[in-house]
This record gives sequence, C-alpha cells and structure tokens, in this order.
Amino acid sequence: MAAERQEMARQGPARTEQVSEKIKKRLFIKTYGCQMNVYDSARMADVLAPLGYEAVDSPRGADMVILNTCHIREKASEKVFSELGRLRAFKQERAAGGGDMLLAVAGCVAQAEGEEILRRAPQVDIVFGPQTYHRLPELVARAARAADGRGVLDIDFPVESKFDHLPEEAAVPGPAAFVSVQEGCDKFCSFCVVPYTRGAEYSRPAAAVLAEARRLAAAGVQEITLLGQNVNAYHGEAPDGAAGHGTWGLGRLIRALAEIDGIARLRYTTSHPRDMDDELIAAHGEVDKLMPYLHLPVQSGSDRILAAMNRRHSAADYLKIVERLRRARPDLALSSDFIVGFPGESDADFADTLKLVNAVGYAQAYSFKYSPRPGTPAAVERDQLSEAVKAERLAGLQQLLGAQALAFNAVCVGRDLPVLLERPGRRPGQLVGRSPYMQSVHVTVPQVAIPRLVGRMVQVRIEAGYPNSLAGRPTPDGAPQTAPRAPSSARITA
Ligand code: 5AD
Ligand code: SF4
Repeated sequence: MAAERQEMARQGPARTEQVSEKIKKRLFIKTYGCQMNVYDSARMADVLAPLGYEAVDSPRGADMVILNTCHIREKASEKVFSELGRLRAFKQERAAGGGDMLLAVAGCVAQAEGEEILRRAPQVDIVFGPQTYHRLPELVARAARAADGRGVLDIDFPVESKFDHLPEEAAVPGPAAFVSVQEGCDKFCSFCVVPYTRGAEYSRPAAAVLAEARRLAAAGVQEITLLGQNVNAYHGEAPDGAAGHGTWGLGRLIRALAEIDGIARLRYTTSHPRDMDDELIAAHGEVDKLMPYLHLPVQSGSDRILAAMNRRHSAADYLKIVERLRRARPDLALSSDFIVGFPGESDADFADTLKLVNAVGYAQAYSFKYSPRPGTPAAVERDQLSEAVKAERLAGLQQLLGAQALAFNAVCVGRDLPVLLERPGRRPGQLVGRSPYMQSVHVTVPQVAIPRLVGRMVQVRIEAGYPNSLAGRPTPDGAPQTAPRAPSSARITA
C-alpha cells in the first residue's frame, strides 16, 4: 500500500490526469442507517466521479470502498469494525494481485470515533465525517501520498458548507429522489447522538434547493423527498427578490417546489413536533402535491419521559398537532418513532405510550429499545432498565403498531390509488411503487409492459393489504395521474 502510494505521489499530476481521462476505478459504497446517508452516499459518488470512480455492486476487487456509517442505535461501531475485518481480506486479496483498495469510513461513526478507527483498524486509509465529504478528492490524494501508511482523518465541522462545494448530482436514481435541505440538530434530545455527530442546524438557501429540484424534474424525477435530521426546522435564506423576512420556512419552500412542472409529489422527513408551524400545517391542506403522509416522531406517550428525553413537548401538545394536521388534511397517514425502556420508564409510563398510539392510529411506525449512546446525557442515568423489560415492552408496542398498520392497509383494498412505479419487483410481471400514503405497492402487469411502465404514475386497484405492503393491478382505464388526491376515508383510527 505504502509503495503504491509513493508511486502515485512520485508520478504526480500526470498520473492524476491519466486517471481522470481514461482509467475507470471501481467504487463500492455501503450505506447504513437513514435516508440522509443514502443521499450523502450518492453525493460522495458524484464527488469521486471526476477522478474516474464508477459505482459497483460488490466490495470485492473494488479500488475504493466507503462505509457510510450510522451511529444512532445499538452496536453501530462494533458492526463497522467487524465489516472492516471482512474488508481487510479483500484488501489483502487486491494487494496480492498487485492492486490496491482504498478503504474509507464515513458518516456518524467516523465522526464519533475518529482516531480510534485508525488505531483499531490500521487497514483504513481515510476517516471523514458527514460535513467534509466535499473534500474527498483531496483526502484520496492525501491518502495516496501518505508514505507512512497512516490513515487520513478529517472530521472537522468546517466553516464552509459542503453544499457550496458539491458538484451537481450526476446520476438520477429513478422517478423518486431525495434532496437534502437541512442538516444537523440543535434539539439535544437526551438519548440522541445526532447533535454531536451531525453538528448544529444548517439550512440550505431556498434558491439552491429549487435549482436542484428543477434539475431533477428536467431529468424525469416526479417525486422529491426533502431530507433533514430536523427537516421542519428549515429556515433557509429566501431567494433574491422574494417577499418575506429573509428566510423561508419549510411550508414556504414546499409551496415553491410545488410550482415546478414535472414534480408530482413532495414529501419531507424527519420532523420534530415543536417545529410544525402554522404555515407547514396549512401546506398540508392546500398543496395537492404534498403527499398525505407524515413521519412525526413522538418517542413516548408519557409526559414524565418526554421531559426526561428533553423533547420539549407533552403528549397533549403532540395530539393537538395531529388534530390540526388532520383538520387540514383529513386523510393524512401518520408514522412515528418510539423508544421503549428509556431510563426510569415505569409500567404506567409505558401504558401512556400505548394510550397515545391508540389515540393517534398510525399507518406505520418504527420502534426501538432504548440503547445508551456514549456521550449523551441519558446514557449516564442511573435507572437503566433491564433487557428483559425492554424486550417485553417492545413486543407489546410492536403488536399494537403492527395491527394498526395492517388495518390501515386493509381499508385500502378495493380502492384505486395512484402509484408511482419505481422499479421491477422480484417476481416476473411485477412492478413496485408507492401509494400517496407511502405504502409499498406490488403491481401485477404483463411482463412485456414492464419497461414502458417503470417511472410512470398509474391508477392501481388495490386487491390485497399485508402488514407492510399492498398488492394490485392497474385499473382498466389505467389513467396516469399527475396530481393525486386520494379519498379522505382512507384515514384509519385503529
Ligand atoms: N436508543 C434507541 N433509539 C434511538 N433513536 C435515537 N437514539 C436512540 C437511542 N439511543 C431512535 C429515535 C429516533 C430514531 C431515528 O432512532 O426513535 O427518532
Ligand atoms: Fe436527535 Fe431528532 Fe432529537 Fe435532534 S430532534 S436530538 S435528531 S431525536
């Protein structure tokens, strides 16, 4: 490795030029965790494309492997270290064949563990955090020059924004795409690592978001999901000449995005209840393109636990917001995250969570056992609960949430829903897409029609509802829809 690096450094610019013009290099990125990481991985591939890197499906034989990691829940770093162990074998295999494999660790584990990764896994060449991947070309060059074989570390929170330094997105993933609009978090929930790994809240200027969305629309994208760790805290600089107070909230941004021709659907994730402002709630009622599905994590239904979590809202505050949202958009399908077994959670606290779930009626939800994250306030609480209690509560909660999800899917049977067909399914004659309510829909079509239908919005008659998906066929007239608005009776309160 060191010899290869010295050779590259010796050959200098001539070698770099040759790489960018001719040699294609294989890049494998493994993405863990949230959609933000999926977006970041795509941007990393864009940044590396001018150096000749092209994405491949396997780490074996790759010239560069990036693990884009997530630190939010259990044993994240241990998973990364065991993956690095497996990759070391591939790296040795490459070296034995006279080649080289650059190994990089990115994302939140990289941010949190930094130097420790280089110490424990000397096969790693580069460690970089979520805020510095626009510097990847420089990091790759530095790794190539590092004659001592020591890895390169870059986990700053730079003053410049990576968004100002990223190339325009190169690959269009399909009819549905993500656009990152906000990053970081200032909320400091007592269980969460995000404010430490992703840093302070930052919103991209509205003009940059609109420009990215227009480019995606021109490339055929019909559905955009706006991403941010705390996306509804968005307060981006208003475009030049726009009326307002110098910044736009998310509701205003959504209205502007809805004016872009070709964009048929808008979504956003993940939101905090405290940031559901009037303008955003109104947008749910007034912007047809804003899909009737919202992931709005509540975490717990107990006021005592919500306070200990530093959530800064009560169960009643949350229910009030849900009521206002449903008044604006009666068929809104809701989703949430829950944590069970937070330090000090009693049976009565847990019962309050079940009560809230019953009061809301979720279409879908994610639930987790509390796991102490090093460096967060809740991790040092004395009253940690046993694994057995956490497991029992999780099972109880998941049973209720599962029943609600199934009930939500079941009432869709017999309805016609507009489905954006994203890709062929696993079975022949099957396409997979999403309903307005974010349900995954398996659509049966004649095999010959598949290439023509990928990327289209079609009306689908729903024939079956399962715990995690729906199944159906295009309606006889099959009219594609551009501005779906589904019947309000799809709302469920199980
Ligand atoms: N333990 C368990 N779940 C957690 N989450 C975040 N931190 C923790 C933790 N320490 C969950 C929250 C959050 C989701 C992304 O992950 O529910 O909303
Ligand atoms: Fe973490 Fe979300 Fe709380 Fe921010 S708002 S600290 S990202 S759980």
